[in-house]
Amino acid sequence: MRILGIESSCDETAAAVVQGDSTGTPTLVLSTIVASQLSTHSKYGGVVPELASREHLRAIVPVVRLAMEQSGSSWNDLSAVAVTQGPGLVGSLLVGITYAKSICFARSLPLIAVNHIEGHIHAIVLEAAAQLAYPALALVVSGGHTHLFEVREGFTYRLLGRTRDDAAGEAFDKVAKLLGFGYPGGPIIDKLAPYGNSNAIRFTPAKMKGNPRDFSFSGLKTAVLRWVEQHDMTSEIDLRRRLIDPSIENYLNSTPQSTLDLIASFQRTVIDELLRRAFASAEDIGAQSMIVSGGVACNSGLRAAALGARLPYPVFFPSPGLSTDNAAMIAAAALPKFIRSEFADLSLSAQAGLTLA
Ligand code: KG4
Ligand code: ZN
Repeated sequence: MRILGIESSCDETAAAVVQGDSTGTPTLVLSTIVASQLSTHSKYGGVVPELASREHLRAIVPVVRLAMEQSGSSWNDLSAVAVTQGPGLVGSLLVGITYAKSICFARSLPLIAVNHIEGHIHAIVLEAAAQLAYPALALVVSGGHTHLFEVREGFTYRLLGRTRDDAAGEAFDKVAKLLGFGYPGGPIIDKLAPYGNSNAIRFTPAKMKGNPRDFSFSGLKTAVLRWVEQHDMTSEIDLRRRLIDPSIENYLNSTPQSTLDLIASFQRTVIDELLRRAFASAEDIGAQSMIVSGGVACNSGLRAAALGARLPYPVFFPSPGLSTDNAAMIAAAALPKFIRSEFADLSLSAQAGLTLA
């Protein structure tokens, strides 16, 4: 079984060919290509939806062609084409969906619609299928999502908690922007946080009414803003915004210790909030393993805290290339659907607000 996966939900155009066995388990990533639009969006401090769609249009044909070439596959070798249906930016999603549908129509291949969040969960299946035990607790943390799911055998899902406002990655990006750093802010904060004292500032953890497993990061973002307003940081922020070479070294040179302490304390609060609820949810469901995925799963502080915790179950993170958006995870999520003959028809459309459970 060989599936071509296509992903275009946000600002990466990606294609991959993944091989699977007769149980729907991925056995080999034959190719994975990701074309990033970072340079297009970074000057705006975030993803500009209209520009993202145009960039996808430019990239989709060469990215798919390269993924096919590198996998050594011809169209006849494919069993199906899988594509991200949502959630995401509608104009971006439509580029991938339309292209996937065209291939299926021209080559008489079945089409499989994949939920982007389910894709992030399957990034772990790609690397650790044999070690995953169920029920598993999945923490999906990216620029658009912060969700806790119970994952049962056979890939059925139950939503246990989600953010009520900003996603964790969004909080990283907004705080970084506020402090004068570039986009995306998550990797920059990750690299600077070890230089600060994470106990320097005590941010109040969010108290949730209703579901205690829900998250909220907007209060933390506002607390950072208040801190910035109360301490005269205008000139250092200005200086960072005007850096000709915004490298980590130059950021470090332009950032006083008190700001590094702020960054470290902010990151520590986000990590504590994520893991406190993830560990409690895992206990609630009697989890046999834990999955952490999505762009924020690249965060070294989060990895160290989760992997260093004494837990009665193993914790799995995808390798960094599979944590952020990619198409191998979309093809992997499609494999069990192929086995179950869960095919979409050619009227498939994008669903910007698609939910998993
Ligand atoms: O999964 P992803 O590539 O796209 C979405 O589906 O959103 O995640 C991108 C997000 C961005 O907000 C980015 O700042 C964050 O993941 N991110 C990180 C790190 N690397 C990426 N956040 C914290 N630490 C990192 N090392
Ligand atoms: Zn994503």
